[in-house]
Amino acid sequence: MMKWVIGNWKMNGLGAALTEVEKIAEGAAAQRPEVVLMICPPATLVASMADKCAATAVSVGGQDCHAAESGAHTGDIAAEMLADAGAVAVILGHSERRTDHGETSQEVRAKTHAAWRAGLTPIVCVGETEAERDAGRAEAVVEEQLAASLPDTLPDQTREDLIVAYEPVWAIGTGRVPTDADISAMHLKVRQHLEARYGKVGSAVPILYGGSMKPENAGAIMAIAHVDGGLVGGASLKADSFLAIAAAAAMATNG
Ligand code: PGA
Repeated sequence: MMKWVIGNWKMNGLGAALTEVEKIAEGAAAQRPEVVLMICPPATLVASMADKCAATAVSVGGQDCHAAESGAHTGDIAAEMLADAGAVAVILGHSERRTDHGETSQEVRAKTHAAWRAGLTPIVCVGETEAERDAGRAEAVVEEQLAASLPDTLPDQTREDLIVAYEPVWAIGTGRVPTDADISAMHLKVRQHLEARYGKVGSAVPILYGGSMKPENAGAIMAIAHVDGGLVGGASLKADSFLAIAAAAAMATNG
């Protein structure tokens, strides 16, 4: 059984932070191959981080891309540019982008196609707000986001080239996490959606949990059915905590 541990550095990290990724790469050498390790730094660090991580067990991803391949879109970055810089994946539809930039699920779907066009694995994020959960709408909201953010067909119907991350907005950066039962129920819903949509291939799409994942809670969360890993924000900025989460993921691979 594989696990994915993906760090989302958000808008954190200058060139000096590459020393941290060197430590992560050193630690990753001792990791089990069943654990996929990736860091998604700010766009300014993608190329230098990809250089540092070449020939290591750590891969590099972007945090967003534009749907178009090129053109008059000041400040935006094409999926092709991320791939050219050495990225292998890209986070799409993170709640901070949905909130800060008004990104819609339809835009996320277009960006997912762009990622595939460029040969990147899309990491599509969904998750409810606290008000939506309190109103008993968490599953409905996630279902709506999945329906609209994910394309109807995968580019290759025999292979999953997609990662989904369930990130309850109220758990991001807050130190609060849902109960194991709530995570379990939501991940099962996401799995059912993927299987209904993509058939057998949908059973193999990794579903990551994100939102205040830390070394202390990672082991328990990773052990929940249909949790195939974590999308880690704050705890991915330091090698020690990121590697501790990777170690917890390794324990959960049952190998
Ligand atoms: P957090 O962020 O781990 O700092 O809560 C997770 C995310 O937003 O991807």
